[in-house]
Formats: sequence, structure tokens, C-alpha cells
Amino acid sequence: MMQAVKKLTFVFFLLIITGSMDFAVSQPSANGCSLDLNYSSSIVGSQCEGGNWGGFLQGSCCGVAFGEYLYALGQRANQTGLVYLNYTQQRDCLDSMSPLFGCGIEKLTSGAGGCSDFSVADVNHFLGDKLKSFSKSCELVSSKGKQEQFCGSCVKSWEGIRAIHSTSSNAESIEKDLCRFAVLVTFTSSKIEYKAYIRSLYKCLGENIDSSSM
Ligand SMILES: *[C@@H]1O[C@H](CO)[C@@H](O)[C@H](O)[C@H]1NC(C)=O
Ligand SMILES: *[C@@H]1O[C@H](CO)[C@@H](O)[C@H](O)[C@H]1NC(C)=O
Ligand SMILES: *[C@@H]1O[C@H](CO)[C@@H](O)[C@H](O)[C@H]1NC(C)=O
Repeated sequence: MMQAVKKLTFVFFLLIITGSMDFAVSQPSANGCSLDLNYSSSIVGSQCEGGNWGGFLQGSCCGVAFGEYLYALGQRANQTGLVYLNYTQQRDCLDSMSPLFGCGIEKLTSGAGGCSDFSVADVNHFLGDKLKSFSKSCELVSSKGKQEQFCGSCVKSWEGIRAIHSTSSNAESIEKDLCRFAVLVTFTSSKIEYKAYIRSLYKCLGENIDSSSM
């Protein structure tokens, strides 16, 4: 009897917790997009900064908006343990009003197997060593006045993150991007309260990745 009551209480709490998490995560910012995106204030005045991530982004004016998108994925990852949006969710976030429309970020959508379907727990499990060395190489990126000095090793570490399964070379390159960004979203999720640092990190990577490594 006590057991059953305990179990019920537990289930009840679980329901409350998942219920309130749902509430926190699903505030749509625009057009049914489930991410908490903060475009308006950051996009204005920043024009075409932020780099194109070694050619991953199409066009050179997507960098800042992409940073906001990655940060919002990190927030969602922190709350849900999920890394990428699925096709429907992605489409809802890329609707024609989005500054990311046409930037090529639909490459980062779940449902393609491999790293595209990784959760935060999977990243920690399968890419844990890469995540650790990335974290270590990039921890000083935002040190005042030292941005350039520390960015180089951070970029190298990012470039060292590879696809887990290699198939054809084109599929391999997409898989590699999916794995790298899954590491980055997971890292962002663990540092979500340090937005200024995350911004410097994205700036470092976005502007300095060697296009031949992408
Ligand atoms: C949006 O970004 C701006 C500038 O980066 C910041 O001042 C503001 O607090 C942010 N708003 C939210 C809701 O996060
Ligand atoms: C994406 O996820 C949402 C929410 O879990 C779900 O309603 C929708 O059917 C999913 N779409 C696809 C294409 O899997
Ligand atoms: C989520 O963010 C909090 C800080 O807001 C942090 O302490 C925690 O480790 C993060 N969780 C994950 C899974 O990254």
C-alpha cells in the first residue's frame, strides 16, 4: 500500500515536472517556431558579421542570426535533452520571415540517422572525448584582448571533430557537420548562462574555420 502511494506520488511529480517543462519550452517566438529566438535586437546593426562557418552557411549575412539559432537550440537542449529540430519544427522556424531563410541550416535537421538523431546524452556518450577537448581548447576564447590568440586552438579542436560512421564522401561531410554542431549545441547547453562567452565562441568559429575542413 505505502509502495503504491509512493509510486503514485512519484508519477504525479513527474507529470508536474514534464508539464511545466513543456510550458517553458513551447513558448513560440514567431510562426509556431518552438525555439526561444531573440533575433530582433541582435540582428539590427550587426549586418553581415559572424562569418559563414567555413562555408557551411550559404551567403555571408547569416552569421549573427545563426548564432542566435544555435544558442536557442542550446537552451532547448538544456531543457529537453534534444539537440536538433525535426523537419516540421525546422520548417516552422525557417518560415519566410526568418533571417535564416536560405542560409542552408536545414542541413541540421534530425531524422537522417547518425548524429542528426543524437540527444545530449548520446553526444556525451559517443563524442564525449571530443566534447571535452573542445571545451578545454575553447575555454579562454573570450578572455579580454586575447580573442585571436586563443581562437586558433579552439578552431583546430572543432576541425578535429569527425563523423562517427563514414559512408560516401558527400554523406560523410554532412554527417561530420551534424556531429560537430551536435557537440557545439551540447556545449552551449552546458554554458547557457554565459551568453557573452557563447557569442565570442561563435564569432571565433564562424569567422575562422578553414573552408577546406568543412
Ligand atoms: C535579446 O538580446 C538583447 C541584445 O543581445 C538583450 O539585451 C535582450 O535582453 C535579449 N532579450 C531576451 C528576451 O533574451
Ligand atoms: C516533430 O516533432 C513534433 C513534436 O514532437 C511532432 O508533433 C511532429 O510530428 C514531428 N515531425 C516529424 C516530421 O517527425
Ligand atoms: C542547463 O543549464 C544549467 C544552468 O542554467 C546548468 O547548470 C546545467 O548543467 C545545464 N544542463 C545541461 C544538460 O547542459
